[in-house]
Amino acid sequence: MALSHGKLKAQLARRLRYYDSVGSTNDSAKEWLIEGAPDGAVVIADEQRRGRGRHGRVWHTPPGVALALSVILKPLDASPAHVNMIGALSVYDLARQIGCDEVAIKWPNDVLIGGKKVSGILVESIWESDRLLGVVLGIGVNVRVKFPSAELLHTAANLEDAARSPLERAELLRQLLELVDSWYAASADQVYVAWRRRLLTLGQRVCSSGIRGLATDVTPEGALRVKCDSGEIRLIHAGDLALADNSEGAG
Ligand code: BTN
Repeated sequence: MALSHGKLKAQLARRLRYYDSVGSTNDSAKEWLIEGAPDGAVVIADEQRRGRGRHGRVWHTPPGVALALSVILKPLDASPAHVNMIGALSVYDLARQIGCDEVAIKWPNDVLIGGKKVSGILVESIWESDRLLGVVLGIGVNVRVKFPSAELLHTAANLEDAARSPLERAELLRQLLELVDSWYAASADQVYVAWRRRLLTLGQRVCSSGIRGLATDVTPEGALRVKCDSGEIRLIHAGDLALADNSEGAG
């Protein structure tokens, strides 16, 4: 796959492994990291046979219809939360760049179009004994996926439908890598401020990890600040977020 490096600032994708079919690009990236992959190396696959989502869920990547990639990042100070923000911002900007409307980030890193999920991000820190080797930023984007279940039909979106025009995956990938590259080169504060501004979740009633209340803010470390119905302020650090029924009362 030919990629131009003309606009890349942080030297992303100078090393690239492409697979027609792979188990999971995150798993391949992890193996490469252990072998000594450089910062910014990228694994891309046309198809994933065992694509992984968060919380042990399955992520579908049939051939020819999606983007599946994993970027290896090796800054010693990068927190997984910061890398999550980079991933979500990059997909958000990609969707806006190709003309999609109603794009938003659902905390912490799902990119939604018209309220449906178009992309998922799986960030994994890879350790060898007690040494952090690096962080793998896995990004999956639905381009024109035929969703395999009624539930996904209801909750998932395709970039091509939202852009209302045929999309070339190699070009999308090039744009996405440029965006990851440029957010990777930005300061932690720039990333946090931009991510926070694009979050759909703030001001909504949420339910997560047994906590129910109004999402009031996010911290620079990526945690969601929730004002519980009891008045207590709680921080949620990760986990699945359900939007609570907004009719059910105050927050
Ligand atoms: C989620 O929303 O649950 C996260 C989905 C992450 C999917 C991507 S596709 C590329 C990379 N390889 C994987 O196995 N998973 C991530």
